[in-house]
Amino acid sequence: MTIKNICCIGAGYVGGPTMTVIAQKCPNIKVTVVDINEARINAWNNSDLNKLPVFEPGLDSIVEEARDRNLFFSTNVDAAIDEADMIFISVNTPTKTYGKGKGMAADLKYIELCARQIAKVAKTDKIVVEKSTLPVRTASAIKNILDHTGNGVKFQILSNPEFLAEGTAVQDLLKPDRVLIGGDTSAEGEQAIQALVDIYANWVPKDHILTTNVWSSELSKLTANAFLAQRVSSINAMSVICEKTGADVSEVSKAIGMDSRIGPKFLKASVGFGGSCFQKDILNLVYIAKSYGLNEVADYWEQVILMNDYQKNRFSDNIVSTLYNTVSGKKIAFLGWAFKKDTNDTRESAAIKVADNLLNERAHVEVYDPKVTEEQIYTDIDYLNSRNYEENRKLLKVNSDPYECCKSAHAIAVLTEWDEFKTYDWQKIYNNMQKPAFVFDGRGVLDTKVLEDIGFVCYSIGKGHV
Ligand code: NAD
Ligand code: UGA
Repeated sequence: MTIKNICCIGAGYVGGPTMTVIAQKCPNIKVTVVDINEARINAWNNSDLNKLPVFEPGLDSIVEEARDRNLFFSTNVDAAIDEADMIFISVNTPTKTYGKGKGMAADLKYIELCARQIAKVAKTDKIVVEKSTLPVRTASAIKNILDHTGNGVKFQILSNPEFLAEGTAVQDLLKPDRVLIGGDTSAEGEQAIQALVDIYANWVPKDHILTTNVWSSELSKLTANAFLAQRVSSINAMSVICEKTGADVSEVSKAIGMDSRIGPKFLKASVGFGGSCFQKDILNLVYIAKSYGLNEVADYWEQVILMNDYQKNRFSDNIVSTLYNTVSGKKIAFLGWAFKKDTNDTRESAAIKVADNLLNERAHVEVYDPKVTEEQIYTDIDYLNSRNYEENRKLLKVNSDPYECCKSAHAIAVLTEWDEFKTYDWQKIYNNMQKPAFVFDGRGVLDTKVLEDIGFVCYSIGKGHV
């Protein structure tokens, strides 16, 4: 079976970049990315490539190459479903905020809406691909809806979870460690798997394309994120011990990472992991374990989240205690708001929690981030409902100039590891700050030796307290 027409429902951080790369690599396939969010679709269609809704290094030039050739962004969901042979579901699967499983289970309402819409519209057989991250066994729910509410056409469900990381999405898509495709073991299932393998085979080496049964594929995605997040929590746990004992966490990371069984990646201590998925996917895993009565398994994975919460809170606590136990009325400059460098995404960013804690202490927080808009920062902080709209605007400011942001500050907190922070004129920043001038580097990116020579009092995560 040769796929000629792809539809992707959901034009977010995954749907947009993923489909852009498929369109670039498969010029003979028409790829239409649809979304109910009109503003998002308009932004994907914006002729000014700086205004794409997702910032990812290298994405703009690929969009430019494929857009309006064989890549289209549209709000006409029905039309795109109708003409597609293969439909990717790439909508959001946030943590449930209501009812059973509140605060833990994945909210599958957007997935179900997509399944019902596909069933309603489809007049020809379709392959439906789960691109969103889903609880294990969701494919059977999707299949049930499609088979019971559809027009009698045949559906094959594949699981094809996405492993890209934000900030490196384009490289991750062009050269994935692996592509995972789960499908039914029937003849039709195998045919569907092959159709998707053939698409990826246009640029991914065959031995990097792994096929499994659907449940293994669904569960592997949650497992991968749980293991990655666990590594961050593990090294963050060690960062606390380093601070108490005089060890240096970056040296410890290097020392253990040279063991080929451990490996060097994902061992950077930080103020805590953020991003839209680690926490949500682990909570989802915890919920699944609990729903099978596996409480020890659930508790084991929940600890990864608890450690992460601890890391964020102890960072802000440390700022307060170091600034003589009061930050009320003091200006704290934040360098960075995104959850990691090279992205404009702020979902679950550690910066939000740290800011919230400091604002509760009546600190004046001023934020600079090279890619995150003022509107987004206020949206993030208002969403917490910790203070009212006016208070948030009184206590929190956003500055588009890092030097102005740090001016007259009592302390600087580094929340994102943007490369440009290393290139600043730190002497100039120091000269314009209150004294003693403190730097709290929550990412371990600045050279504390250089800063201390200038006169800063430095705290760097995992390197011992001031
Ligand atoms: P996102 O919120 O950026 O995008 C989802 C989009 O789906 C939104 O624009 C929303 O308007 C749209 N949508 C929701 N319901 C719709 C409907 N019924 N019809 C049409 N459009 C609809 O989310 P994301 O970050 O792209 O994540 C999508 C999925 O991919 C999630 O399950 C996530 O866990 C997974 N994932 C995300 C990443 C990542 O780096 N962000 C990486 C791997 C996997
Ligand atoms: C993560 C996974 O890496 C992807 O494989 C996965 O597809 C994705 O989640 C998802 O399912 O959404 P992402 O969250 O975009 O990708 O970014 P990561 O590079 O994993 O970073 C996550 C968080 O961990 C960031 O806040 C980052 O700063 C932090 N981190 C990462 C550390 O604190 N230390 C590290 O060593 C690595």
